[in-house]
Amino acid sequence: MEKGHRLFAAFSSRYLITPRSITRTITRVQRAYGSSASEEATLTLHTGARMPLVGFGTWNSPLDVVKRAVLAALDTGYRHVDCAASYYNQTAVGEALNERLNKICTRQDLFIASKLWNTYHARDDVRPACLHTLKEFDLDYLDLYLIHWPISYMRSDEKVPLLPDGSVAYSYVHYTETWAALEELVDDGLVRHIGLSNFNSQQIDEIMAMARIQPAVLQVECHPYLNQKRLISHAAKYNIITTGYSPLGSPERPWAEKGEPTLMDNPVVIKIAKKHNKSPAQVLIRFQMERKVCTIPKSVTPERIKSNFDVFDFSLSQEDMTDLEYLDCNWRGCIPSDEIDGNYIVRDFKHPFYPFHIAY
Ligand SMILES: NC(=O)c1ccc[n+]([C@@H]2O[C@H](COP(=O)([O-])OP(=O)(O)OC[C@H]3O[C@@H](n4cnc5c(N)ncnc54)[C@H](OP(=O)(O)O)[C@@H]3O)[C@@H](O)[C@H]2O)c1
Repeated sequence: MEKGHRLFAAFSSRYLITPRSITRTITRVQRAYGSSASEEATLTLHTGARMPLVGFGTWNSPLDVVKRAVLAALDTGYRHVDCAASYYNQTAVGEALNERLNKICTRQDLFIASKLWNTYHARDDVRPACLHTLKEFDLDYLDLYLIHWPISYMRSDEKVPLLPDGSVAYSYVHYTETWAALEELVDDGLVRHIGLSNFNSQQIDEIMAMARIQPAVLQVECHPYLNQKRLISHAAKYNIITTGYSPLGSPERPWAEKGEPTLMDNPVVIKIAKKHNKSPAQVLIRFQMERKVCTIPKSVTPERIKSNFDVFDFSLSQEDMTDLEYLDCNWRGCIPSDEIDGNYIVRDFKHPFYPFHIAY
């Protein structure tokens, strides 16, 4: 066997990579990105950097399967991975990233996003929280660091710290203080971009009024039942790109009603999917792409991970888009809730920074 072939055989047996799987990955990545990052597959942030339009979600991905899921996503061609400290799986995600780094992609090809959790909003807590996240990933920098929610809790290692009476131990650190601390992370090269998650239009205005470094991204729930038209155009006025989370309607969110029909079961979505010979999930992902909204579907199922990325070879007509936009009904799946005696009770809505009391 020639030396090159021997090396390839040793490498591929270790990493389960075959010539055919490499060809398939290259084809998918080329279809998505072209030979370089193409206009269609990425969005340009205010710094000029590009963010892949279709990313990969990791919320609710259990520890024992998330590494395999991220490996499958990278092999499929995803280069944008959406994470958060509060998903408690970043170490496993980092292992997957590092296994593929410098083999099928470089660090520059990747776009890694994470989020600062509510317990670390105080100015002095932000940098240690970010360093902890970087350590979990075993990476030197993040491409995007978001304030996960405008609401803050008391500093704690618990996700939701409680007072002795069982109520949530809130704090009232203002998100403008947190933002100033995030800006210092950019100064120090720990993060390339900073952004907001679950902020409403007024809260965005407040950040814009004081920001030295502007938010690059707003991440909010977004799908045809909550199409966020007004919030997206509000953010766009500031040159902030929107990422839509829960694009498939988050059917496995812990507080979902048992047996409730999902967004993927909606007859309008199914009809459009049949017309294009695509799945309902592919239509919902393409819906965001047509609107230049970044989207981050989550899956731990290899076939779904692949098919959710097979969305670059069709487009939705204006009529399809109008039909999907018509489904908007202000339905929100992601409302922080706690389980008490088998029932889910909405949390945080009395906090002064709760974002969902106004229309957008
Ligand atoms: N900023 C925030 O506050 C926030 C909040 C929520 C979510 N997010 C981010 O957004 C990501 C996506 O949102 P999400 O996880 O709420 O929900 P989602 O992406 O709307 O839906 C994920 C669910 O859909 C299933 N699924 C995936 N592809 C499918 C397909 N092709 N056909 C049928 N079912 C499919 C998945 O099952 P399997 O995994 O079993 O395949 C999983 O149960 C999160 O993972 C997270 O990264 C951010």
